[in-house]
Amino acid sequence: MPVETLPIAGACGAEIRGVNVAQMDDQTFAEVRRALLDHGVIYFRSQELTPDQQVAFARRWGDIHAHPYLRTLPDHPEIIEIVKEPEDKAGFGDSWHTDQIFTPTPAMATMLYAKVVPLAGGDTMFSSLRHAYEALSPGMQRLLHGLRTYNLYDKAKPRSGKMAAKVADKERPAEPAIHPLIRKHPETGEPVLYINDLNTTRHFDGLSEEESRPLLEFLLAHATRPEFTCRVRWEPGTLGMWDNRSMLHKALNDYYGHRRVMHRITIKGEKTYGIGELPRAAAAE
Ligand code: SIN
Repeated sequence: MPVETLPIAGACGAEIRGVNVAQMDDQTFAEVRRALLDHGVIYFRSQELTPDQQVAFARRWGDIHAHPYLRTLPDHPEIIEIVKEPEDKAGFGDSWHTDQIFTPTPAMATMLYAKVVPLAGGDTMFSSLRHAYEALSPGMQRLLHGLRTYNLYDKAKPRSGKMAAKVADKERPAEPAIHPLIRKHPETGEPVLYINDLNTTRHFDGLSEEESRPLLEFLLAHATRPEFTCRVRWEPGTLGMWDNRSMLHKALNDYYGHRRVMHRITIKGEKTYGIGELPRAAAAE
């Protein structure tokens, strides 16, 4: 069956058809990898994957990123099970974010496999940080180059019963991570507006929260303008994947009274660089 890539919105997102994720040859994998770079988020319907098969597919993309604060499935240390029970009120991942910006080497990509989903609700929204950067005026782009953000994991965020229990070592303070606000995408070389919800991206490096907040609020609102977004509706068996280096995402918490279970794996990323900055090894040559 030929592989088909069907965009789902103007800025980002594509459904990939004609692929069995568990048995993909190298050429198809190369096409899928290209589709992820081009569309930011991709998904495959009707996949039947065991946890081992999901892990094997994830390993084709790179090493697995270990979340510094969340517990995994006991028999699959690569997988975090995201569960919301019918009685849970708080959502997980329900503000705009890019995975693990609060670490020095944030996740390259995240893979979510839908196990149980409500009949309606529980979609995930995505927004393209490349389009967000491109839409800024040249003057604003110039102003932002050189700024760096201070990012810290919010351990105190309200979480539902099962997800709250997954936060390990709650008393240990989280470590901050500093990143360029305008990040150079390590594979495409394109500039992206690398920002997160303001519970994590707290301020600009060297500026106070009070000084940083108005500009950060503007940038987050800008980065999530509807025309930069798409929305993935999950079905049991949907495998979705996004590029955290160019996309924000947000899980919609609009299905109280229903159950949702997803298996999540994140792929290890790299150190972040601004435009014009060189990786240390290259700079030393
Ligand atoms: C996440 O933020 O990683 C979870 C997204 C989702 O459950 O839709």
